[in-house]
Amino acid sequence: MRASVELLALALLGSAPGIAASPATQKSSNGFSYINPLIGTANGGNVFAGATLPYGLAKASADVDGQNTGGFGIEGPNVVGFSSVHDSGTGGNPSLGNFPLFPQVCPDDELNNCKYRIGDRKLPYVNSSLVAQPGHFGLQLESGIGANMTVSQHAALYRFTFPKGTKHPLVLLDLTDLWQSRQNASIEVDEKSGRMTGNGTFLPSFGAGSYVMHFCVDFYGSSIHETGVWVNNRAGTEPKQVFLTRGFNLFFLEGGGFVRLNPPSDGVVTVRMGISYMNSAQACRNAESEIPRPVTDFDRLVDNAQKAWTEKLSPISIKSGGATNDLLTSFWSGVYRNMISPQNYTGENPLWRSDKPYFDSFYCIWDSFRVQHPLLTILDPHAQTQMVEALLDIYKHEGWMPDCRMSLCKGWTQGGSNADVVIADAFVKNLSTTIDWELALDAVLADAENEPLEWSYHGRGGLHSWKSLDYIPYLDFDPYGFGTNSRSISRTLEYAYDDYCISELASGLGRGDLRRKYQQRAMNWKNLWKADQTSFINGTDTGFKGFFQPKYQNGTWGFQDPIACSALADFCSLTTNPSETFEASIWQYLFYVPHSVSSLISLLGGDDAMISRLDFFHTSGLADISNEPVFFTVFLYHYTGRPALSTERIHQYVPSDFNSSPGGLPGNDDSGAMGAFLVFSVMGLFPVAGQNVYLISPPFVEEISIKHPVTGKTATVRNIGFDASYKNIYVQSAKVNGKPWTKSWIGHEFFTEGWTLELVLGAKESSWGTALKDRPPSWTLGS
Ligand SMILES: *[C@@H]1O[C@H](CO)[C@@H](O)[C@H](O)[C@H]1NC(C)=O
Ligand SMILES: *[C@@H]1O[C@H](CO)[C@@H](O)[C@H](O)[C@H]1NC(C)=O
Ligand SMILES: *[C@@H]1O[C@H](CO)[C@@H](O)[C@H](O)[C@H]1NC(C)=O
Ligand SMILES: *[C@@H]1O[C@H](CO)[C@@H](O)[C@H](O)[C@H]1NC(C)=O
Ligand SMILES: *[C@@H]1O[C@H](CO)[C@@H](O)[C@H](O)[C@H]1NC(C)=O
Ligand SMILES: *[C@@H]1O[C@H](CO)[C@@H](O)[C@H](O)[C@H]1NC(C)=O
Ligand SMILES: *[C@@H]1O[C@H](CO)[C@@H](O)[C@H](O)[C@H]1NC(C)=O
Ligand SMILES: *[C@@H]1O[C@H](CO)[C@@H](O)[C@H](O)[C@H]1NC(C)=O
Repeated sequence: MRASVELLALALLGSAPGIAASPATQKSSNGFSYINPLIGTANGGNVFAGATLPYGLAKASADVDGQNTGGFGIEGPNVVGFSSVHDSGTGGNPSLGNFPLFPQVCPDDELNNCKYRIGDRKLPYVNSSLVAQPGHFGLQLESGIGANMTVSQHAALYRFTFPKGTKHPLVLLDLTDLWQSRQNASIEVDEKSGRMTGNGTFLPSFGAGSYVMHFCVDFYGSSIHETGVWVNNRAGTEPKQVFLTRGFNLFFLEGGGFVRLNPPSDGVVTVRMGISYMNSAQACRNAESEIPRPVTDFDRLVDNAQKAWTEKLSPISIKSGGATNDLLTSFWSGVYRNMISPQNYTGENPLWRSDKPYFDSFYCIWDSFRVQHPLLTILDPHAQTQMVEALLDIYKHEGWMPDCRMSLCKGWTQGGSNADVVIADAFVKNLSTTIDWELALDAVLADAENEPLEWSYHGRGGLHSWKSLDYIPYLDFDPYGFGTNSRSISRTLEYAYDDYCISELASGLGRGDLRRKYQQRAMNWKNLWKADQTSFINGTDTGFKGFFQPKYQNGTWGFQDPIACSALADFCSLTTNPSETFEASIWQYLFYVPHSVSSLISLLGGDDAMISRLDFFHTSGLADISNEPVFFTVFLYHYTGRPALSTERIHQYVPSDFNSSPGGLPGNDDSGAMGAFLVFSVMGLFPVAGQNVYLISPPFVEEISIKHPVTGKTATVRNIGFDASYKNIYVQSAKVNGKPWTKSWIGHEFFTEGWTLELVLGAKESSWGTALKDRPPSWTLGS
């Protein structure tokens, strides 16, 4: 079901003379109608499917008892509550979902006949009642009670519709979160108004420490019948407050508050919930100022959300050329999910006072630096600028930028200090003139130079070895700081690229001394190269020689099977099967030298050797399309002078691994990273994060235009000879603004200056992009 597609006459761009605006050149920019928030609610996508504004703190949805990392999941059969804050696409523990509400009718009008604990109250919902649109989520419980919800920035609004004749509708609030991480919590219920206020201390879902969240809930639709609190499966009208602690014996005490209303005339009980990280008075103020007329504001808020999302999508317009609705749905939904998180907590940071923006839910930068932040840089540079400023403000007040952060807490570091790449990416793309680049240099130098005592959640570990040995040793002796002492290979590769990114920033700031120093360190990846290392699968030699291997401090090689931690072997993470590579194999990390791909190709034995490695990797089951490290490898063929092979490879994965069904993502969306990968693939420009480079491959649609939100100029990629069955996928020749363009890549000026890239397509690989001078830039020491 799609709203009618808005048709715009195509403005003539570039220098193609004589093309009149005809129906064939009409473009669609009504991306909103394509958004399907349910993509990624099954098959481990873990996306947030509920109602949210772009980067909103309030995110309302139904929470289920199955896979519920993002609250709602289509595979979870029962609804356990309706809660107002969530994260999106994350793995591991369910995140947030604090203070769920649950509406019900007590049999025989008897308070203690209602069900309070999750296990008792949970209910299936009517599948056909499920509605998920940006800014609006709704479903009907099997009890006959309907729930519709929408949001403002810091508050959620629920409309619970009770069956006709309900005497005293009850709504409870549960002092828990999805993960049941609550340490202690309190609630107070005002006898007259029914207003509930309170707070709880919870644990971050992938990090250290704890956080306090506050709420303020008001009820509308009828007068208050009675109020009180509940503990376990009993409720009472006295007392009006309760303080819960965490049980010593691992018993999780369930409890909270409730109100019962007198019969509402239309059966609707409206509930407004304000959230704040500051205090409950601010939670009330947030709710009152953003949703001043709760009973009538619902449609206005839905409308407002629709406008906000339409505005966020508005830079993009597409001429599909017959591309499927499924692809377009995946595309626009990917853009949408890219702006669910990080979340704008400006004014909601109790940790320090600052006039800078504060964003949270960088969850995690190891996932998001590759494509999510680069996509925000193109589509929403204002927001990306504020996010970079927030990272720097976190550095200023905590001494370190995060590699991961959620719920005001430091999240676990997965790889290197990847905020360094985000900073360099912003710098080389001239993201903003308001960013304090000297402060940025301090921040990245802190990562590179100062080993923190706790490097599991900020900075880098093993810096003494890094500086003296030029690699991270296997089983490093590191009495200076503590973290998960694994991942020596992936950390070496990531630190090397992070250091390259630092050298770019230093260079741009005129710090030649630092540039040289970090360029030197950017070559450290070579020190783990073991030229005679082989790789076997099930006892059969793959025939490839030369892989990265772990190396002890004394220079002796250790060993990790190159296929370990791949889809053919076991999963490896921080605590699950910790290994010398993180969440991917040595085969995967083989390709992670983004600054110096040509050196890597030489080590492997030339272009053909690189191509056969890539081909084997992508066809043997070693490549894991469900995790972020794989992204760059799909387009790496560009560096061998064979951009056509990158194009063939992306057609292997799209659409087969990305579709618009609930299970249509290959893995965790990771705050929109999977969506951003699909978006860039469809767009035909793949960003090499940290460099002013986009690798060109024909878009999956006939034409796509992006109007830069700051300069107002429109960039267009246009396929000539496009066919939606994807037989003509090979670039024969290219033009930029009417002039021949032989390079297989282009810089960010394309977007800021609003260039037009025309790609003439054919059914066979051509010589376009094959010349040495036309390959994407590779740097090497001394070059
Ligand atoms: C509702 O959807 C769930 C999940 O897709 C499915 O398991 C269940 O059978 C469906 N129920 C009905 C009545 O269709
Ligand atoms: C949500 O609101 C719409 C519009 O008022 C209504 O038609 C629908 O029944 C509601 N859904 C539920 C589950 O209550
Ligand atoms: C609640 O729990 C947190 C974390 O364990 C603790 O710091 C705090 O003192 C507790 N608050 C009260 C009032 O017990
Ligand atoms: C939480 O609420 C209780 C009861 O209103 C109050 O005493 C306590 O100070 C609050 N805790 C925080 C951290 O604001
Ligand atoms: C974040 O919130 C602040 C405070 O409401 C606002 O000024 C700022 O524009 C928001 N940023 C974005 C990118 O929406
Ligand atoms: C950034 O600004 C510099 C100096 O004005 C300019 O030379 C460069 O082309 C710009 N880069 C981009 C990506 O716009
Ligand atoms: C390895 O052997 C096992 C057992 O015979 C088989 O199940 C598996 O598919 C094989 N894997 C590969 C990659 O050949
Ligand atoms: C280097 O250290 C490793 C691990 O302790 C040890 O197995 C190896 O024998 C050492 N090599 C030399 C040459 O001492």
